[in-house]
Amino acid sequence: MTSIWYEHARDRTWTSTPPSADALHFHQNLAGYSPTSLVDLPELADELGVGRVVAKDESSRFGLPAFKSLGASWAVRRLLRERADDRPVTVVTATDGNHGRAIAHWARVFGHHARVVVPSGVHPHAIQAIRDEGAQVMTIDGSYDDAVDTAMAVAAGPDLVLVQDTAWDGYERIPGWIVDGYSTLFAEMDEQLELAGAGTVDLVVVPVGVGSLLQAAITHYRRHAGGPAIMAVESDAAAFVAPSLAAGEPVTVATGATIMAGLNCGTPSSLAWPMMVRGLDAAVTVDDDIVVAAVRDLAALGVAAGPCGAAGLAALRIALGENTVHRRRHLGLNSDSLVVLIVTEGAEANPSPGTH
Ligand SMILES: Cc1ncc(COP(=O)(O)O)c(C=O)c1O
Repeated sequence: MTSIWYEHARDRTWTSTPPSADALHFHQNLAGYSPTSLVDLPELADELGVGRVVAKDESSRFGLPAFKSLGASWAVRRLLRERADDRPVTVVTATDGNHGRAIAHWARVFGHHARVVVPSGVHPHAIQAIRDEGAQVMTIDGSYDDAVDTAMAVAAGPDLVLVQDTAWDGYERIPGWIVDGYSTLFAEMDEQLELAGAGTVDLVVVPVGVGSLLQAAITHYRRHAGGPAIMAVESDAAAFVAPSLAAGEPVTVATGATIMAGLNCGTPSSLAWPMMVRGLDAAVTVDDDIVVAAVRDLAALGVAAGPCGAAGLAALRIALGENTVHRRRHLGLNSDSLVVLIVTEGAEANPSPGTH
């Protein structure tokens, strides 16, 4: 088992510039919108010695089994809004599963086409689900970063547009829209917690692939001074957060095989990186075995999480299981604290852990 806890001193003087509410209003008016559920998990609060643990359950978001629809729908809509004519476009993207499925879905719903590049190690069911949305799928023998390079090359041509959920120098506008789309998840959750009279959040645990969802979390919670601790969770097969923070610059790591397909990315998004430096409190890596146990335990509590979705529980067990007084102090936790797990995918997104 290889798990790493890495603690980071965030800049407590920094506040973020949050996005406008446009994406939230767009989602709220989109057919099929309803807030995803927030599930109380008192058994886990007891186990972990905190006041309350809740899971934001993204297993059904606009009928798809991951949060990714929030970014894909908003970015595709923004893109189409800017085009001068109504000719169909082909949206091109690379994916480790969920983003490509969401892009294929929203391109189809808005009357356009999609071409999706898939790296090695993505479950055949996930690939079939992208095809079932009507997209052309291209599988390559390579990593997620290789698939992004391929998608970039494929997208060079008229009526082809790359809609990637990671940014790099010179390609930041569209991934920025995707992150704005993800912000709906956090705005929605604020309202749900307020309605539930839950009080303030003390810790948010966010799974990290390239860091775009983490960017949305940091942007949301750091818009005022204070705010909860934010902890990143990565697969030990693709963990760049701690090495990057330690180096003081974004580091690309070699990726391996993992059941957490959505987290199997070796390069931080250029937009996410400066947010991590300023706003993140800790990063934990988890391996497949501890995540399989977390999938099983969440299922027993009524949350049907896929591996990326369960990674947060695995990370919390690592973070609070050892050297616990020091780590709890670093995260600002006590026995009354409210902890939020972002369960980013349902079991259906990645149905058979261990079969890659
Ligand atoms: C289910 C799931 N969780 C988490 C992530 C990580 O998101 P990001 O790549 O924005 O860090 C992904 C990305 O594909 C995902 O599919």
